[in-house]
Amino acid sequence: MTTAGDTFTLPARVLHWLMALLIVAMLFIGVGMVASVSERHEWLLAIHKPLGIAILLLAIVRLAVRLRHPPPPLPADLPALQKLAALTSHWLLYALMLAMPLIGWAMLSAGGYPVMLGSSLRLPPIFPVSPVAFAVLRHLHGWFAMLLFLTFLAHMAAALYHGLIRRDGVLSSMLRGRRKTAPASIGYSGEPAENAHAADAGSNGPDAAERIE
Ligand code: HEM
Repeated sequence: MTTAGDTFTLPARVLHWLMALLIVAMLFIGVGMVASVSERHEWLLAIHKPLGIAILLLAIVRLAVRLRHPPPPLPADLPALQKLAALTSHWLLYALMLAMPLIGWAMLSAGGYPVMLGSSLRLPPIFPVSPVAFAVLRHLHGWFAMLLFLTFLAHMAAALYHGLIRRDGVLSSMLRGRRKTAPASIGYSGEPAENAHAADAGSNGPDAAERIE
């Protein structure tokens, strides 16, 4: 049986990959939308708004899952700076997953535009009508989208570094939720943990599943 806390839970993994897909799609839809002057603009916007609100709801669920089930500890031998970078980028991603949809919604509210989810469901405004606020929020939405994209790229690079170079089990714990047992490791907060990220898929040694208890 797998010990609690040494692997990502199934809901955490499903939410991670589903949201990764949705957010990347949203970034491309957003850029395609603002670059388009044809009727495609309206079509993309009609997808962008409900998908953005879906991301907001999923981010809230994900935050609850994250707070209830802390992630597996990082490898004990990971340099402190890399641990700090991991922690910072993960919380930045959470902040942006929540902020981006809220800013988009507030922006349209400030502009006096209805936020329609489909043809009949209209969301209430969350910001008073103000042309100045609309302009500020419009810029903020673009800048935060860029920050989200850069953080996503850094996150992906780090995942590949763990999976292909360090082979320390961090990537496979999000892919399969399985981890080989290993000597002591350190949690996010620095506390020792029973199990560590031992090896990623493709690394040497017997099948990881055999060593999971
Ligand atoms: C995670 C969620 C979201 C992401 C990643 C995202 C991403 C983007 C991106 C990349 C752009 C283009 C920015 C630029 O190049 O200036 C954009 C524009 C826009 N977004 Fe979002 N967005 C999200 C949520 C929302 C939500 C929830 C709404 C509204 C309810 C919204 C409304 C808009 C609007 C109105 C524009 C400008 C369209 C235009 O000027 O033609 N976004 N978004």
